[in-house]
Amino acid sequence: MFITFEGPDGSGKSTQVPLLAEYLRQQGFDVLTTREPGGTRIGDQVRAILMDMENTAMRPNTEILLFLAARAQHVAEIIRPHLEKGGLVLCDRFGDSTLAYQGYGHQVDLGILRQMLRFATGGLQPDLTLLLDVDVETGLQRRRRGGDEWNRLDASELAFHRRVREGYLEMAAAEPQRWRVVDASRPVEVVQSAIRAAVSAALPAPR
Ligand code: TMP
Repeated sequence: MFITFEGPDGSGKSTQVPLLAEYLRQQGFDVLTTREPGGTRIGDQVRAILMDMENTAMRPNTEILLFLAARAQHVAEIIRPHLEKGGLVLCDRFGDSTLAYQGYGHQVDLGILRQMLRFATGGLQPDLTLLLDVDVETGLQRRRRGGDEWNRLDASELAFHRRVREGYLEMAAAEPQRWRVVDASRPVEVVQSAIRAAVSAALPAPR
């Protein structure tokens, strides 16, 4: 089973994913956690280019191709092999991040992006996607307070982040069988319980 985590910046994915992984391992699942962009040696190098504050000349098309390059490598090298051996993959961001940030955020044609995503992933789709939803102001404040890396993308204007959040909510509403929306403005333990409930309901019994 392939489970992805999506959400605006500061939605708490990097705290929640390891907590869920620990819980699922205790249940006997063979869990692999990974993140995008990155997750492979090549992907981490691409991530460094994308997050470099000095790369102010980067065009939206360049950005898209870099995210997709990292993803193609990630799917082939890490995600598919683990799924093929019957494991469970938890991935912090995947294709829906490209649709939310580049599609809704930078207003690149969603149809073209979906085609490019199919090319990069070989058509791999998550079985379940958790949207950790938080309003834009809270998310950005959390990132600053947390001393998290303040990357090139965070510096984009507030309106961009609002479009990203709206895009996520729209995608979740359009495909409710795959998406679960979790209110991530609540305390960590409450959010984690909601995530565990949503994932447990979707999982087969452990072997
Ligand atoms: P994060 O590791 O803190 O989630 O940061 C990754 C940033 O990259 C975040 O601002 C979202 C952005 N991003 C995209 O714009 N498109 C993508 O396809 C992915 C995976 C991430």
